Amino acid sequence: MNTIIAGLQWGDEGKGKIVDYLTESADLVIRSQGGNNAGHTVITNGAKYILHLLPSGILWDKKVNVIGNGVVIDPVGLVEEIRRVESQGVAITPEKLLISDRAHVVLPIHKELDAAREAALGSHKIGTTKRGIGPTYADKINRCGLRVADFNDLAFVTERITKRVAEANEILVRYDLPTYEAAAVCAEVLSAFERLRPHVTNTIPVLHTAWKAGQTLLFEGAQGTLLDVDFGTYPFVTSSNTTAGGACTGSGLPPMAIQRVIGVCKAYTTRVGSGPFPTADEGLSDYLHGLGREFGATTGRPRGCGWLDTVLLRFACMVNGVTGLAVTNLDGLDAYQTLQICTAYDIDGHFHPLPPAERDAWDRAVPVYESLPGWNCDTTGCTRFADLPGQAQAYLARLAELCDAPIAFVGVGPDRAQTLAV
Ligand code: GDP
Ligand code: IMO
Ligand code: MG
Repeated sequence: MNTIIAGLQWGDEGKGKIVDYLTESADLVIRSQGGNNAGHTVITNGAKYILHLLPSGILWDKKVNVIGNGVVIDPVGLVEEIRRVESQGVAITPEKLLISDRAHVVLPIHKELDAAREAALGSHKIGTTKRGIGPTYADKINRCGLRVADFNDLAFVTERITKRVAEANEILVRYDLPTYEAAAVCAEVLSAFERLRPHVTNTIPVLHTAWKAGQTLLFEGAQGTLLDVDFGTYPFVTSSNTTAGGACTGSGLPPMAIQRVIGVCKAYTTRVGSGPFPTADEGLSDYLHGLGREFGATTGRPRGCGWLDTVLLRFACMVNGVTGLAVTNLDGLDAYQTLQICTAYDIDGHFHPLPPAERDAWDRAVPVYESLPGWNCDTTGCTRFADLPGQAQAYLARLAELCDAPIAFVGVGPDRAQTLAV
């Protein structure tokens, strides 16, 4: 069975952990969108790995990991990541990691342009990860991007980088940001690219051959549904389709190749970066930060935390076609006596079961809450769903009912072993 793992909230739902858990029964793990704005934490046998561009299946021997055509690749960042993960004892060979020749390339200037755009937005900034994601996807759509395959023609790459550096510098000087030397950018990018070259291939026939041979494919989503450029809280979103459809456009596999969509959500809600967050709760944020939880894996920023929002989840289950939910971080609520679940938004006296499209409606959205009793005990040692306290099972059952999707997995701790199949 081929599976998409999709984030259902604003990212950081625990996708990496669920992908790692499901990789045991997969043959290939595929990233199809986003870039190193993603930060996926995987903890296994006490070792902690943070992955940004490498699919989480890289931690397993003999699994093939694919960075698909829909991903934007920062060659310098990817080489650094490969070195870091290799220094943790994980071999990254050309057999284990395949990079699509159609993927677009993030240049150092894209990161600086990202910063310039944020500076220009002032208090309206998106709160991006400053990894150059927006400017790189903008170049892709604008048909002036650089693709991995272009690196077969070094004269073309040098000319294109030189032109883009000159254009970027004109913008950067306006914001007093550092400008770039085209020759230095070319040298840095081309040297990083040489480390990646043995991994580059046309990944599309590889994936089709694996599919036709009945191998098991696992798509690792990055970001989350409310950060999707179409379905998210626009403009406070990322620049790719983070939802299930992105797995097809970003890999070259058709919809009929996929039978299962596992939607990952936390048992509460978090968001890092700017934008609407109706169920944000300072008390819950302070409590979780006090436990050392909910700091971003990519930027280290504290994530805002709030109650479970089933308006978002209901919508996310619809647009992703979720066939099963993976609810992570249930243990984050262990100490609470009473829990709130948002079932609808009250906007100007009208109840909304789904998120609005209008920007200003978000500012007026008041969550309608339902209270449920907490379980007030430690769940981190539970090894089976049936071991969970009755109130925790009831909380999950209500979540599933409100989202119209069954619970498939529950996370009660960060370790691979702390994942319960239902
Ligand atoms: P991703 O971007 O969706 O892969 O998620 P991140 O790795 O950025 O953030 C999820 C955080 O929650 C990480 O620190 C994980 O180690 C942690 N995590 C995942 N599942 C669980 C869980 O069930 N319980 C606890 N306590 N932590 C979890
Ligand atoms: P994973 O895969 C959480 C957020 C940023 C910002 C917005 C746009 O770990 O879940 P970008 O740099 O993409 O232009 O930033 O999206 N963002 C994430 N938030 N998890 C992520 O990835 C994110 N990737 C981007 O904080 O609000
Ligand atoms: Mg993350």
